Amino acid sequence: MQGIFISMEGPDGSGKSTQIELLKSYLESKGYDEIIITREPGGTVISEAIRGIILNKDYSEMGYMTEALLYASARAQLVSEVIKPALEADKAVISDRFVDSSAVYQGMARGLGVDVAYQINSYAIQGIMPQLTIHMDLPAKVGISRKKEQAELDRMELETLEFHEKVAEGYRTLAKLAPERIRTIDATMGIEDIHGKIVSYVEDILARA
Ligand code: TYD
Repeated sequence: MQGIFISMEGPDGSGKSTQIELLKSYLESKGYDEIIITREPGGTVISEAIRGIILNKDYSEMGYMTEALLYASARAQLVSEVIKPALEADKAVISDRFVDSSAVYQGMARGLGVDVAYQINSYAIQGIMPQLTIHMDLPAKVGISRKKEQAELDRMELETLEFHEKVAEGYRTLAKLAPERIRTIDATMGIEDIHGKIVSYVEDILARA
């Protein structure tokens, strides 16, 4: 089996984690015996520590550039410690968010610019990009109300509805810029229907591999 890297993207509360678990089982059925699941920001001891700083709701004074660089730092450690070695060993990697989150949240919603976001991250990702990115498309309102039901909101989730609307719209724009890699799915559909769509996109890339 060849290494495969899939990222899951979408607004907060779009149901990525449920789909990642289903996708993991599917990839196992395809013969990948070790599937690495990781999340951003996080996935290593250092990246989880950085996550604690980024999402701490007491740090309301955090500047947008500081925020962007912290996400990139957490990512740099995750790529070198987990993702790169896994792909070199021909494993499957599924990441709950990757560099597109920075393009959308920091580049578009915060207004730093998509080019700046990718530029900052070019050092962090060392040329590694997902072969497939699943974009879970969902109205911002729906995502945030799902989050509110689950737990206390973090610094990003506490942002205004306007911010989350920019995120949801930002993903739609980004998906149009990279239609070969980023596949949009209506995340208001049922769990099994969404999984079926994801499987069809994964089959496409496995057939090409
Ligand atoms: P998390 O609790 O993992 O959110 P979710 O369950 O919705 O994925 O928190 C990650 C938050 O950080 C989320 O609000 C998106 C945001 N984020 C960025 O702003 N930029 C980034 O590069 C990444 C990876 C996440």
